[in-house]
Amino acid sequence: MTTATGEPGMTDISEPATDVARMYERTTALVEVIWGPNLHFGYWTGPDDDTGKDLAQERLTDMMVERVPLGPGQRLLDLGCGVGHPALRFARRTGAGVVGVTIAPGQVRAATAAARAAGLHDRVAFELADAAALPFPDDGFDGAWALESMPHMSDRGAVLREAARVLRPGSTLALTDVARCGPLSERQQRDLRERMLITAPPRSELAELLDAAGFDVLEVLDITRSTLRTTELTRQALEAGAVELSGRYGAETVEHMARVLDVYDDAVRTGMEYLLVTARLRPAAGGAS
Ligand SMILES: C[S@@+](CC[C@H](N)C(=O)[O-])C[C@H]1O[C@@H](n2cnc3c(N)ncnc32)[C@H](O)[C@@H]1O
Repeated sequence: MTTATGEPGMTDISEPATDVARMYERTTALVEVIWGPNLHFGYWTGPDDDTGKDLAQERLTDMMVERVPLGPGQRLLDLGCGVGHPALRFARRTGAGVVGVTIAPGQVRAATAAARAAGLHDRVAFELADAAALPFPDDGFDGAWALESMPHMSDRGAVLREAARVLRPGSTLALTDVARCGPLSERQQRDLRERMLITAPPRSELAELLDAAGFDVLEVLDITRSTLRTTELTRQALEAGAVELSGRYGAETVEHMARVLDVYDDAVRTGMEYLLVTARLRPAAGGAS
């Protein structure tokens, strides 16, 4: 174990998570320029849907919001909160509180500043923590979500067990994840692991891990086709701004982003799907009931 910041009082962050943290420390500013403050894919209803990328991203957030029915006085745990935009949207739309965790210190600072700027800092807070080792007591949250953070988790089972521990029995968990649904060559899997720092286990494995952690799966949606335009639009934005972006963020970081898009599209072409999963914590699981 090591700490991401070396600062006393900060949560220990495990080694694989530290690699992901370094990548986000290096790329978040660029990703925000290209993607906006939602560090996740957009959702389009079909080939004729010409919704812009920003709105399509909010739409995916809203699909998550709809799946975790909380209200004032309740609290959502946001596992992998990015720079906090989805958490702020959740808080605005539901009146509930949110605690977001991320392993990237710069994201904690940016998300905290965004909560303050939005006047929501009294009920939306962000902390540096590894989702696989949460610094929270049992049974403290009424719902949780993980919006595009699961693919980075080197031990999804540990993250789900931790979620079960800190959620009250009967709580809803919504997450998006990638899964293997066809052939992925050794090279494709290595690219996902080494360039994107993600893995894509078979869909059945996620269901087994959810069950083992005490969750009943309520819904599994394959939204691969509805989200795919994100990489196309991101590639266009990268190409259009390549010179300026390389000047601001370094050619290597811009090149890394372009390669990540290629790796993702290549995997989806042969055997990777993007899933939206909703599950409920069984009454007997988690901490004290
Ligand atoms: C693709 S971004 C999504 C961010 C945010 N959910 C959003 O939609 O804007 C993935 C996020 O997962 C976080 N993350 C990755 N591994 C993590 C871990 N082990 N513990 C906590 N957060 C993690 C990253 O720091 C990043 O904030």
